[in-house]
Amino acid sequence: MKKILLCPPTYYDIKYEINPWMDIDNPVDRSLAQEQYERLKQTYNLLHVPYDELLPNKDVPDQVFTTDTGHAEGNIFIRANFKYDERKKEAEIAEHYFKTKGYSIHTLPEGIYFEGGDLLKFEDTYILGWGKRTSKEAKAYIEKNLDVEIISLELPDEAFYHLDTCVAPITKDVVIANMEALTSEGIKSLKHHFNTIIPTTKEDNELLACNLMNIDGKAVLTQGISSTLQAELRPYVDLINTVPMSEYIKGGGSVHCVSLEIFD
Ligand code: ARG
Repeated sequence: MKKILLCPPTYYDIKYEINPWMDIDNPVDRSLAQEQYERLKQTYNLLHVPYDELLPNKDVPDQVFTTDTGHAEGNIFIRANFKYDERKKEAEIAEHYFKTKGYSIHTLPEGIYFEGGDLLKFEDTYILGWGKRTSKEAKAYIEKNLDVEIISLELPDEAFYHLDTCVAPITKDVVIANMEALTSEGIKSLKHHFNTIIPTTKEDNELLACNLMNIDGKAVLTQGISSTLQAELRPYVDLINTVPMSEYIKGGGSVHCVSLEIFD
């Protein structure tokens, strides 16, 4: 991974409801969100993970969830085709960012949705979630653009609407997953590709436990994740850090959603 792209929560808020976590009557505590954002940046500094920050735009209150704006790899940026109008401008802003950095911008055909939170990459393993935000048809298009093969999983659960809310590859052989948020076919396919699946509990899912970053064995998790899950992860990672993310969970995201990975 080259670096991470973040966006300060200057205008972050719950202005509409497009997933069951969002409740306009449960607004973001902006100063707490800012504090949590600073903690996340401190953590990346501590881990020597480079990051860049987008200029926040007042028209897009979900802009903190940078991961969704697309997939950046090599000199390619596959721009998101957001399902909901409320977020479409975020993709334009990200496109502009990557264009000025010299990336070639790839766009999916109109009507085929793709949101970055649905595509997970661990080394040369790619997994795509579809059904809630991303169209099933996006798989073939992304495979062709990146010249890779992609494992695809249907996401049947409203609350775990992006793949990164319910699945996290930890190593080439180990993945953690919220089994209740997958179909039996999806579980079968994960079992086929990974030797070990660590299932998450309901309590950990409420903290979006799967929404983690694992940067070369340095894991960053939502603060409050059970010690059981942390103990289960420990054999596979070198370091576990946790960051308070309550304000971002109100929007339906956590560490992974706010940290767009820019891959080499
Ligand atoms: N409020 C945002 C939405 O519903 C949250 C996105 C979270 N991102 C993610 N990759 N899970 O679109």
